[in-house]
Amino acid sequence: MQILVTGGLGFIGSHTVVELQAKGFEVVVIDDCSNADEKVLDGIEKISGKKPIFEKLDLKDRGKVEDFFHRYPDVEGVIHFAASKAVGESVEKPLLYYENNIGTLVYILKELSKKNKASFIFSSSCTVYGQADKMPITEDAPVKEAESPYGNTKQIGEEIISDTCKVTPNLNAIALRYFNPMGAHPSAEIGELPIGVPQNLVPFITRTGVGLRKELSVFGDDYPTEDGTCIRDYIYVVDLAKAHVVALERLLASKNPKNYEVFNVGTGKGSSVLEVIGSFEKVYGKKLNYRIVGRRQGDITTAYADTTKANNELGWKSIYSLDDAMESAWKWEQKIRN
Ligand SMILES: NC(=O)c1ccc[n+]([C@@H]2O[C@H](COP(=O)([O-])OP(=O)(O)OC[C@H]3O[C@@H](n4cnc5c(N)ncnc54)[C@H](O)[C@@H]3O)[C@@H](O)[C@H]2O)c1
Repeated sequence: MQILVTGGLGFIGSHTVVELQAKGFEVVVIDDCSNADEKVLDGIEKISGKKPIFEKLDLKDRGKVEDFFHRYPDVEGVIHFAASKAVGESVEKPLLYYENNIGTLVYILKELSKKNKASFIFSSSCTVYGQADKMPITEDAPVKEAESPYGNTKQIGEEIISDTCKVTPNLNAIALRYFNPMGAHPSAEIGELPIGVPQNLVPFITRTGVGLRKELSVFGDDYPTEDGTCIRDYIYVVDLAKAHVVALERLLASKNPKNYEVFNVGTGKGSSVLEVIGSFEKVYGKKLNYRIVGRRQGDITTAYADTTKANNELGWKSIYSLDDAMESAWKWEQKIRN
């Protein structure tokens, strides 16, 4: 049996390929390298001792997607990471985001619907909750109006999968709503690639640490939290990758009571921006140069996951601490800058 990982050279995808290979799955990666480098394959091989099969292909090309599934009839499971993910860019170029994040999803689901049995894992996001009314956030918290076209693609994506599953009993799907992924593989062979402007706090911190940025801007210290900075749930990318394997195994073993399910993937613990900086300073061994500036438009105050459903039903729990994850992020940043 083969498992297709779309976007498998990307940040979360590459770590998931490593975890799948460790479990003995044969992995086929599709990536168009729009936000990745083919050298990631070497990093995966160094960790796993094996390169996945690689198809350089743009999933926006429907003909190529159809052709791929003809050439790989043994693909029974798909983990779909490929997407564009820059929130700001999505506001500027909404059609690019709808085409890449929704079009590609539809093409893949069409192909999977033709199979006798297929398993599908979707990269969703805690952005679907917006500023939730209650913490920690459970999966049945209401989905709030999206703040950006990117966020909207995750909401619409979930709806498309849910609607398709209702009429396609042979299709089994899980949407994983990630909280804030961070870190790199402990070997520092793979991590988050430094293409473009980072989208998340941790790469900004490590880039400041390594001297690529003069200082880190902390957006607002007047939020109603203990230290006034925003709170998020930082999940180590290796823990997150393992959640995909567990979710896939659930579907392959037909342990899912419904053919469409949603799970939060976080640690269940919220950390403020200043706590994250504090964690970095422990591995850095000195003070980070940061400055408090005004609030950033669109930032919510607090978001952290209730992970009870993932813990009890998936049998998955995050293991690594924020400090472990930070150590790996710093090791990776230093390696790529050398
Ligand atoms: N990183 C986060 O903070 C975060 C949070 C929540 C959800 N997600 C979602 O998780 C998924 C993976 O995120 P990531 O951080 O690993 O991103 P990433 O950009 O590192 O990985 C995505 C990969 O998909 C590839 N890709 C994009 N469009 C493609 C196309 N049309 N055809 C083939 N390949 C294509 C890119 O080259 C890249 O390697 C995305 O769907 C993202 O929206 C990420």
